[in-house]
Amino acid sequence: MKNIFLFTDVAELVTLESVRNQDGRRIREKDLSILKNAAFVVRDGKIVWVGSSKKVPKDFTKLRPQKISLGKQIVLPGLVDCHTHMVFAGDRAFEFEMRNQGATYQDIAKAGGGIISTVKETRRTSHERLLKLSQVRVNEHIRQGATTIEIKSGYGLTLKDEVKILKVIKGLKKARIVPTYLGPHTLPPEFTNNVQYIDSILSDLSKIKKLTRRCDIFIEDMAFSASDSQRYFEKAKALGFDIVAHTNQLTASQGVLVAIAQGARSIDHVNFINEADIRSISNSSTTAVLTPGADLFLKNPYAPARRLLDSGARVAIASNFNPGSCPTQDLQMIGALARLELKMTYFEVLSAFTVNAGFALGLEDEVGSLQVGLSADFLTTNTSLTGIFYQPGSSPFTGIWRDGLQIS
Ligand code: NIG
Repeated sequence: MKNIFLFTDVAELVTLESVRNQDGRRIREKDLSILKNAAFVVRDGKIVWVGSSKKVPKDFTKLRPQKISLGKQIVLPGLVDCHTHMVFAGDRAFEFEMRNQGATYQDIAKAGGGIISTVKETRRTSHERLLKLSQVRVNEHIRQGATTIEIKSGYGLTLKDEVKILKVIKGLKKARIVPTYLGPHTLPPEFTNNVQYIDSILSDLSKIKKLTRRCDIFIEDMAFSASDSQRYFEKAKALGFDIVAHTNQLTASQGVLVAIAQGARSIDHVNFINEADIRSISNSSTTAVLTPGADLFLKNPYAPARRLLDSGARVAIASNFNPGSCPTQDLQMIGALARLELKMTYFEVLSAFTVNAGFALGLEDEVGSLQVGLSADFLTTNTSLTGIFYQPGSSPFTGIWRDGLQIS
C-alpha cells in the first residue's frame, strides 16, 4: 500500500495555523487560517504539504501519490479530548437521581458513594472486561470526532489496580490515546489520612513510568490539599513526569497557584478562581481546561471562561467523560455548552477543542492543527463552521481520519 496520499477537493481547509502560532491565546476569527479550494499531501501519517489545489508541487505529484477526493467538504483538525476518565466499570445512575433530589456530589462521596463506588466496581472487573468496555467508549468518542483522547487512571487506588487500568489504557486502539496516572484521585478505603496515602504513592511512582508520562491529582477539600500536591508534583517532576491537576472545581483553594508554580501543563476545571488566580494563569504557560459538561451535571457554577480568555489565558475544553460528574460522550453537547454557558465564540470553542487541548497534553507539535510536520488527523463536514457544536445529539462529521487513514 502506498504511504503517500494527495487529498483534494477541499472546499475549506481550517488549518488553525495562526491559533497555534500565537500560543492559543487571544484568538480572532481570522486565526482559523482557512485555505479555500485546498489540497494537502500526507506521507507516513504526517502532513508534508498544504496549499491551493491548483499548485500541488511537482516534487509530490511525481511520486504518484494515491489521490483521495474529500468531496468539496470543509476539513478541520480532529478533536482532542484532553480530560477523560474513560476506563471504569459500572455506572452511577442512582447518584444522578440522588443529586436531582438535592444531594451534592460531596454528600454522596461522604456517604461512601462517588468515586469510591466506581473504584469498587473497577477493582473487581478483569483487564479483559475493562478493555472491552473501554474500547466501545473509545469508538464512540471517535464517532464524535475525537482523534486524540486523554484517559486517566484513578479508579484503582492501589498500585496493582492503577497498573491494571494503565495497561487497559495502553491496549486501547484506533484513536491516539494519552494515558495519565491519577492515583491521588481520592483517599482509598485502606487509608485514613492523605499524608500516608501520598507517601505510599510517592514510593511507588517510579513503577508506573513505563505506562505513562503524566501525573494528575485532585486538589479539593474532599480530596487532596495544595500541600499534598506540592510533595506529589516535586517527586513526579524529579522522575521526569509531566504534571497536571484537577483543581478549584468545587471550592476555592491554593491549588491553582501551586500547580502553576510547579509548571503544570494544565489545570482542569478552575470554577472557583479569583482575579489573582486568573492573572497567574494568564501569565503562565499552563492551559486552563474547562469542563462545562461536569458543571451541568453537578449544577456547579461554570468557570469564568470570558475573564480567562480576555485576560490572555490559553483555554481548552474537554468532555471529562466519567460515570459520576459527566456521564455523556456527546462532544457536540460539550461544545454547545461552551458556547451557551461559557460565552465562547464558535472559533474559540473550535480552537479550545483542538489546538489548545493539544497544548494541554504537550502535543501541540503533533496534533490540533493541520500544518506541515503535524499528524494528518482530520474531520470532514458538510455543515458550516458555526454549525459545529450547535446540534447536540447528532454528529456533523462525515469522516474521521487519523494519520491520513479513515477510522470512522
Ligand atoms: O474530573 N473531580 C474529580 N474527578 C472527576 C469525577 C470523577 C467521578 O466522579 O467519578 C472529574 O469531575
